[in-house]
Amino acid sequence: MIIRPRSEADGAALEGIAEATHRLDGYPKYLPDDLRSFILEANALRAWVAECDGEIAGHVALHPRSIPEVMEVAVSATGLSENQLVVLARLLVSPVARRRGIGRALVAHATHEARRLGLRAVLDVVDEHRDAVALYEHLGWTRAGTVNWKLPDGRPFREFVYISPEP
Ligand SMILES: CC(C)(COP(=O)(O)OP(=O)(O)OC[C@H]1O[C@@H](n2cnc3c(N)ncnc32)[C@H](O)[C@@H]1OP(=O)(O)O)[C@@H](O)C(=O)NCCC(=O)NCCS
Repeated sequence: MIIRPRSEADGAALEGIAEATHRLDGYPKYLPDDLRSFILEANALRAWVAECDGEIAGHVALHPRSIPEVMEVAVSATGLSENQLVVLARLLVSPVARRRGIGRALVAHATHEARRLGLRAVLDVVDEHRDAVALYEHLGWTRAGTVNWKLPDGRPFREFVYISPEP
């Protein structure tokens, strides 16, 4: 397995993985009209894919920020300013490639790259995504707080805010 920077050409494969992930895990919780743009988010600072035997198997990105409520929890938990934080986002692994360490490798890679940029990685995760929560805790991330939020269609949901381990 290799992890490499995402390219425009990865869009179709990532959209396919995102569709399968939405069906299986309900991630993303709210299905945007344009799933490809959701994953490829133009504002990402960095983004990578995991490739196994020439096939895209997973994805992770670093975004400059999340919603203000999440950033507030992260700022207060780390004692850092918003500009010193970066948000790990759009983590997903193809359902056919799970439990082989790809998610762990992607999170470790993104966290390491955040440090190289002089930033501390944080993230928010919907409480229902238990596999992801298990992964973050397995990697030593700590839960800093909870945020209640609403989907664009008005349905309420709860998110946990996690902070990456100190270097
Ligand atoms: C979360 C996700 C990325 C994990 O990917 P993965 O490649 O299967 O994870 P890994 O194989 O690297 O697992 C590493 C560790 O995380 C934990 N973990 C991962 N999946 C788990 C599960 N289904 N149940 C319990 N623990 C789990 C385990 O501790 C695991 O270590 P182990 O296999 O030695 O027990 C994947 O399940 C996924 O894409 N989920 C849907 C999308 C999602 O929820 N994204 C998060 C948005 S914030």
